[in-house]
Amino acid sequence: MNAKVNISNRAGASFPVRRMNFDFDQVPEYWMNGSVGLTHFMTGLSALFPDGEKLFIDSVRAVRYHPAIKDNEELQKEISAFIGQEAMHTQEHVNFNASAQKYGHDVATLERRTGVVIQTGRKLFAKLVKPFGMTQEMVDLTATTALEHFTATIASELLRNPHIQALMQDDTMSYMWLWHAVEENEHKAVAYDVYEEIFGRGVKAYALRNTALVVAMVAIFLTQSSFVLKLLKDDGKLNLKELGMIYTYAYSPSKGIIAGMAGEMLAYFKPRFHPNDLDTVQLLKDWKAKLGL
Ligand SMILES: [Fe+2]
Ligand SMILES: [Fe+2]
Repeated sequence: MNAKVNISNRAGASFPVRRMNFDFDQVPEYWMNGSVGLTHFMTGLSALFPDGEKLFIDSVRAVRYHPAIKDNEELQKEISAFIGQEAMHTQEHVNFNASAQKYGHDVATLERRTGVVIQTGRKLFAKLVKPFGMTQEMVDLTATTALEHFTATIASELLRNPHIQALMQDDTMSYMWLWHAVEENEHKAVAYDVYEEIFGRGVKAYALRNTALVVAMVAIFLTQSSFVLKLLKDDGKLNLKELGMIYTYAYSPSKGIIAGMAGEMLAYFKPRFHPNDLDTVQLLKDWKAKLGL
């Protein structure tokens, strides 16, 4: 595994910021067990992260000194660690995306498209909900809580799904995705807690967070799918064999990582939902021991 783990800073938060330094130079072109379709499926996800995680950081930063939380020392420490982890994820996905680009897969264009989708979506959504007294800050933060629920859920599914793990043949890529998956679950409650502390648990906040989840899931599905199709088409591999592999390991009820997320995704709609209701304590303990984190 080509990475140095440096747990440099806990600073009183419930989880640490780990400085990582992956070397993607030796990663094979089709590192998901030689499968073009599955490799591009993961690359399509990775292309979402640099701008996606920037939105997460910016949306929490924008409200961290709101009167409702500015003196909440514990939450402030969690926010700092959250920002630190997401910044590190961005750095590593930028580096991996650049390494895929070296093989001629145009991930840079996909990263730019992610930025356009996010900026267009957040402004349009804010315009639509403005008549109901909702601000851009509220929209950005609830988009983050929705997307953080998605990332924590896909991450916990990755940590539980042996079919996907078996396909991750390259040590560096396997470690990178599993490290990211662990951290998504370590910090899964931070944005949610910030949202609830500031905007409460009233009908308006509840309606907005549910609407945001539906909008965010449709956007992420359409965007990531279009990325995968483009990567396959540009590679001359847009065919039933590759699409079949993606169906089996992403969407089929028996092995699919996305199909396995359904129950936990729906839990978000419960009025009294909290991310920590989905218990990943032992799962994280086991994986941190295995990965030496
Ligand atoms: Fe992340
Ligand atoms: Fe996250």
